[in-house]
Amino acid sequence: MSDEPSPELALTFSFYERVLRKGPGSEGSTLKALSMLDGLPPTPRIVDFGCGAGVASLVLARATRGHVTAVEICRPFLNQLEAQAATEGLTERIRTVEADMADPPFPDGSFDLVWAEGAIYNVGFEKGLKRWRRLLRAGGFIAVSEASWLREAPHGKAVDFWEAEYPAMSNIEDNLTTFRAAGFEPIGHFVLPSEDWKDFYGPVQEELAPFRATHLENAEAQAFADSMQQEIDLWKECGDSCGYVFYLGRAI
Ligand SMILES: C[S@@+](CC[C@H](N)C(=O)[O-])C[C@H]1O[C@@H](n2cnc3c(N)ncnc32)[C@H](O)[C@@H]1O
Repeated sequence: MSDEPSPELALTFSFYERVLRKGPGSEGSTLKALSMLDGLPPTPRIVDFGCGAGVASLVLARATRGHVTAVEICRPFLNQLEAQAATEGLTERIRTVEADMADPPFPDGSFDLVWAEGAIYNVGFEKGLKRWRRLLRAGGFIAVSEASWLREAPHGKAVDFWEAEYPAMSNIEDNLTTFRAAGFEPIGHFVLPSEDWKDFYGPVQEELAPFRATHLENAEAQAFADSMQQEIDLWKECGDSCGYVFYLGRAI
């Protein structure tokens, strides 16, 4: 891909180059989701959309004998993944592809498993599911984590913040309905534990001060750091209002 990201996106990417995990999750949750997919072939063909530095791609490659196609729009993140894959001797089984996951450059039926951790929101939950369905062979699996409302009456502060940041966020029931409408039979879901948020927000929190210091004159960078800090503080105060849910399904 040769299109330059917007200055706003470039700033976001430059921040996230500082941390390996670019969204909530953990090796344990990746393995738990994988273990719920009963009937995967012995050497599954897996695509990991919005792979970032490949925290999930690496777990999937280690835990299966399959091949992982790791798709990401930001080249420096793929460089991070390639370096780690080489260190672990996984280069043969992890292919990186710099592409827009909204328009995946793969033929129909290319994969046994579509994976996306904390990434489908960039395309939209419904749109992402619909666009990725054709990539699966009949009976293939999907595993995506998505921010979801967890309470019928979420905390007002959480509603105010997320309605501005991610107005499309839905609850679990509605997301399962969307899942079915997009051509997937739900086979399980679970809420990511709060440790997964600590694993994400901990390193992010540590990088905010150095990031601010390298962008002292940059109002956009300071605003980005303000918003990130607000998100972390909100999670500490009312983290049970919403969270990430792993949704697992089978193509029907
Ligand atoms: C919240 S991060 C999650 C990254 C990774 N899955 C993880 O858990 O660390 C979302 C990722 O999606 C990538 N992304 C955003 N829009 C994208 C697009 N249209 N196509 C491919 N990747 C995209 C971002 O660059 C980022 O790495």
